[in-house]
Amino acid sequence: MVALDGPSGTGKTTVARKLAGRLSARYLDTGAMYRVVTLAVLRSGIDLADEHAVGNFAHEVDFALGTDPESPDVRLGGEDVAAEIRGPEVTKAVSPVSAVAQVREVLVARQRRMIADAVARDGGIVVEGRDIGTTVAPDAPLKVYLTASAEVRAARRNNQDAAAGRESSVESARESVERRDRIDSTRAASPLRAAGDSVQVDTSELSLDQVLVAVTELARSRGLLGDCPAEPVAAGAGVLS
Ligand code: DC
Repeated sequence: MVALDGPSGTGKTTVARKLAGRLSARYLDTGAMYRVVTLAVLRSGIDLADEHAVGNFAHEVDFALGTDPESPDVRLGGEDVAAEIRGPEVTKAVSPVSAVAQVREVLVARQRRMIADAVARDGGIVVEGRDIGTTVAPDAPLKVYLTASAEVRAARRNNQDAAAGRESSVESARESVERRDRIDSTRAASPLRAAGDSVQVDTSELSLDQVLVAVTELARSRGLLGDCPAEPVAAGAGVLS
């Protein structure tokens, strides 16, 4: 199992999915869980400021998350919401919702069950989030914490939004990234921080392939790659998103 944590725009999703493919492992996007619960809260009309109501409601949300790194689908009551959970309304509301302790309890329990299943039945799992190495899976054999400057992260987020046809600008992306960093790292319940035993990788100046090489080698050094031969990777290629 690999824990991949870090703030938004550091390349976690791209790296986690590619790494899972290389390891023939499953992939779990825990941010998508917080997003799908946030979407359900928004649709229910519950006041976001009412932590008690939001926390109670989290128990009832009927969602499903796929763990195939090629197509990790996200469903809310059977409806495909993979695109909607990345939209601006959910992105704005997700940090306050994920700061509610009861929401975290419900989702962390579910994440642990999914991780245990994948480790027992499949070829392991790569899990991305904010608190995987510190709270969800403190015994993970490999913990990687990705970082990047706020400038670079905002530019990546802006590119992603533009590619998905969402209205965006570098300034608004930077504001959104910094706002979420602030809430995510100052909340009382498992705030965003690097685990003491994680390996930190600054992706600001690195291409996707360079990050993948670094993380794949870490996985190899922890014995997670089995006999898989080293893959030649073109230096400088690939785009991080
Ligand atoms: O990775 P992402 O941007 O999709 O995550 C969305 C939000 O979910 C993020 O702002 C913080 C929260 N989150 C969290 O609190 N804990 C996690 N393990 C993953 C995400």
